[in-house]
Amino acid sequence: MGMMMNLLPVFSLLLNLVLILCAKVMPRGMSSNSEGYGGGFSGGVDLNESVCPEAEPIIFSWVQKAVMDDSRMAASLLRLHFHDCFGCDASVLLDDTENFVGEKTAAPNLNSLRGFEIIDAIKAELESVCPQTVSCADILATAARDSVVLSGGPSWDVQMGRRDSLSASKTVANNNIPGPNSTVPMLLAKFQNLGLGLRDMVALSGAHTMGKARCSTFSARLQGSSENPNGPFTPLDFIESLQQLCSGSDSSATLAHLDLVTPATFDNQYYVNLISGEGLLPSDQVLVTGDDRTRKIVEAYAEDLFFFFDDFKNSMIKMGSIGIGTGTDSEIRTNCRTIN
Ligand code: HEM
Ligand SMILES: *[C@@H]1O[C@H](CO)[C@@H](O)[C@H](O)[C@H]1NC(C)=O
Ligand SMILES: *[C@@H]1O[C@H](CO)[C@@H](O)[C@H](O)[C@H]1NC(C)=O
Repeated sequence: MGMMMNLLPVFSLLLNLVLILCAKVMPRGMSSNSEGYGGGFSGGVDLNESVCPEAEPIIFSWVQKAVMDDSRMAASLLRLHFHDCFGCDASVLLDDTENFVGEKTAAPNLNSLRGFEIIDAIKAELESVCPQTVSCADILATAARDSVVLSGGPSWDVQMGRRDSLSASKTVANNNIPGPNSTVPMLLAKFQNLGLGLRDMVALSGAHTMGKARCSTFSARLQGSSENPNGPFTPLDFIESLQQLCSGSDSSATLAHLDLVTPATFDNQYYVNLISGEGLLPSDQVLVTGDDRTRKIVEAYAEDLFFFFDDFKNSMIKMGSIGIGTGTDSEIRTNCRTIN
């Protein structure tokens, strides 16, 4: 078991190389497609290779190094792309300026988002190899895909051609990013705002098969509050071990694995955990306790890894095309933290 888990990233790496090679010989349009929301892409599915053939390998090798140093970085980079995709325009990467308060200090992001330095490093190398060619938003989308692949998950073609915003809004981030105490109707409303449906929502929540969360985000799981989604079957020892973890003096910095069984592997264990009542966030556990439709999807993913992988990659492609092609008020940044 331990042996297999160690080998998984190696297998994924090989698989990814094969996929990259296949993508090169496949005519454009034959690789996976997406329905696209809020604009869509004008060009082909891959990075414009005649412009910067080095981009995908450069991004992959930076992500690979980062994940080898810190396996949680895969989760952090995946989440960074999600939090950018209320319009995938790299607005999440902008530092505050005199003219606007950016998204980094919004409640869901502050002291929580990670990986900005990795994106900076990728951008710096891409600017030296292919100046003004690869947007920060495209780097985020590609790094998210590579993070999933390196953690043992599925691969997909990342559509390129996103452009970077000229501004950012803390208010928009606060209003759009769902909170961990959300009920199913609240979650669904936020996803529907983006053109994503119930099944996308359950599939994308499967990202919580890796990474960590602070005690403050799942405190409702430890209490008997009205928001507590604990079903009658939530194991007492699970709740007790979380109470124990979060009882320390500095619980604001204490982290729990989102998937307690395989915390750094991209698999369907998250859904198996939900069925046994061991989802970490209230917004995770409600997918089983709060709605029959979401529970049926959870059960299907828990039973069939490849059904989940297929849905996840399709939903990631949809999510990655939100708010694309807004045109004139955009650019390709040379530094992801500031506008040109
Ligand atoms: C369904 C609504 C969602 C809610 C309410 C939610 C909420 C959260 C919260 C509260 C955390 C912990 C943050 C912290 O304590 O610092 C977290 C972590 C994470 N989320 Fe979500 N999330 C949702 C959907 C998603 C989606 C769609 C993705 C990606 C496709 C995603 C990827 C992640 C990852 C990978 C982590 C771990 C990050 C790390 O360890 O650095 N989440 N999420
Ligand atoms: C790719 O780059 C070439 C050369 O700059 C350009 O003519 C072409 O329109 C680009 N294709 C896409 C899909 O952006
Ligand atoms: C979730 O609800 C609990 C009360 O049930 C509250 O203590 C906690 O602060 C809430 N967490 C967030 C992140 O809103």
